Amino acid sequence: MCGIVGYVGKEKAQDFLISGLKRLEYRGYDSAGIVTLGEDGKDTLVRAKGKIVNLEDKLKHNKTADRVGIGHTRWATHGEPSEKNAHPHRAGDLFLVHNGIIENYKELKKELSDHKFESETDSEVLAALINSFYEDGKYPLVNAVVQALKLVKGTYGIAVVSKKNPNEVVVARSGSPLVIGVGHDETLIASDASALLGHTKQAIYLNDGEVATVTANSVDIKTLNAEPVSAKVEKIETNLAAIQKGGYEHFLLKEIMEQPDSLTETLRGRVNLEEGIVHLGGPGIPEAELRKIKHLVIVGCGTAYHAGLLASYYIEKFTPGITIETVIASEYRYRQAYVPEDSVALIVSQSGETADTLACLREIKKRGVRTVGIVNAIGSTIAREVDGGTYVHVGPEISVASTKAFTSQVIAMVMFGLTIAQAKGVKHSILKPYVTEIARLPEEIGKTLKESEKAVKDIVKKYADYEHGIYLGRDTAYPTAMEGALKLKEIAYVDANAYAFGELKHGPLALIDDRFFEFALLNKGELYDKAVSNVQEVLARGGHIIAVTNVEKFDLAVESVIKISSDIELFMPLLMNLVSQLFAYYMTIAKGYDVDQPRNLAKSVTVE
Ligand code: F6R
Repeated sequence: MCGIVGYVGKEKAQDFLISGLKRLEYRGYDSAGIVTLGEDGKDTLVRAKGKIVNLEDKLKHNKTADRVGIGHTRWATHGEPSEKNAHPHRAGDLFLVHNGIIENYKELKKELSDHKFESETDSEVLAALINSFYEDGKYPLVNAVVQALKLVKGTYGIAVVSKKNPNEVVVARSGSPLVIGVGHDETLIASDASALLGHTKQAIYLNDGEVATVTANSVDIKTLNAEPVSAKVEKIETNLAAIQKGGYEHFLLKEIMEQPDSLTETLRGRVNLEEGIVHLGGPGIPEAELRKIKHLVIVGCGTAYHAGLLASYYIEKFTPGITIETVIASEYRYRQAYVPEDSVALIVSQSGETADTLACLREIKKRGVRTVGIVNAIGSTIAREVDGGTYVHVGPEISVASTKAFTSQVIAMVMFGLTIAQAKGVKHSILKPYVTEIARLPEEIGKTLKESEKAVKDIVKKYADYEHGIYLGRDTAYPTAMEGALKLKEIAYVDANAYAFGELKHGPLALIDDRFFEFALLNKGELYDKAVSNVQEVLARGGHIIAVTNVEKFDLAVESVIKISSDIELFMPLLMNLVSQLFAYYMTIAKGYDVDQPRNLAKSVTVE
């Protein structure tokens, strides 16, 4: 979603603003802009619709040596993607960039008749509002910002600069992340720490309700109620290599292929293979409390939701006396759902910033329910607000479509389930096979990726022109099918849906015709024969089936087969999901679409 950068220091601000915005490109955007301010009171505002290269083209004629500035990548919410709606927005002598949504912008706008609005955005309203206080002469700028923010309903991460004092940037946040990078005689601002890498590893993460005045050598933080906050400088753990393509053509392929390593990081220090147990320190729940847990609520959006759903299938298999409800955050936050006593909520998020998931977390906490984060981004808002948590440690996920995070989220949640089961005294013989397979997964993932890539490339030729697909699975392969369909939908723009095999007869079977292919996940196990009967029903209606299977002697007369030779049993759906990921990737290449930044989507959905 939208990205913010800012600079004040001794170097040319434009250089960092552009390189920082490029780092944030992965979040998804449709226009971009920067402004820099000179000591002579001159401003240079450059904005462009589309990719950052368009902005760079325009900048060729607008180079400055100014040492303060702010920049933004916009993902349209109010008003179409266009140059005039792109940030920064000007009001009087000041400029503002904004992430988030100002919900009461219409009411506020009515009171700002002196300002000539140039855009359709809610953000320009905030710029004008700050300026209305600033013009009153209530200098410093931070005072005007605070007065304006007190009137605002909604979410924001903002950076503001003024020609009256081109030596400072004022930043504030509520519900939208902002990080301040502390350098040598320079201070940098970004909505995502990855933009700061290469400049500094020292960061201050602003909290909701805080506002900071930033100069080249100082960071002065206060709450909106003017209470001073002492800045906590933290180390950024990510390194530059982790946010580069490392020889791959696309981040997505890199992230799919690095799953053996990313899962190894998830497991590091958490699996004791000899004893057949797992150990998760992060949730911090005493054993006596773990024993009491009767109910889990798992909350997430999109892929994180699918990971939760899949994990719930596993956890309920080995943890008796526990009920699990996996919910979509955007729905759950408005439901009046009863959360029983002795519940724990798992809050699942790669970015740790998803607005709906964060809202659920806050709602659930209000009810006194213990929350545990299953988060990737270290220091993110969700990670900081949960009662305890388990980082999945997969490293930065840059491609918009989530891949490596899914695999590790599932396993991290299963390990949490195992922790409960261990505390409840579930027989070792029941739990050990899970632990053993988890420990073997990184290697088996590596083998499966190698083995299936060529097979996937080969079959994609046959299906590249299809626009409809149905993903099918039973039991643990069903949430996996849902995730496969989502991946294909979001990057290859194929209208793909997922159904449990058993649901076919209840409606979707009517769809089977030559416009559709069926992606069938057929893993060995109790329900295999039933799934085969369902496949026969599709075949009898002329279906175009792609079977992904670990059955050695697979003899169904389907159109295409991708075999998985691994002897992994319980977690076979996770291996099948690798095939779905590769299939989505190569379908997207075949169709010629943008793999890493699919249209209309953003990596981190920080607005509702
Ligand atoms: C799909 C995808 C999204 C995210 C969802 C939640 O590939 O990336 O569906 O999974 O927006 O994001 P996080 O996990 O950051 O909360």
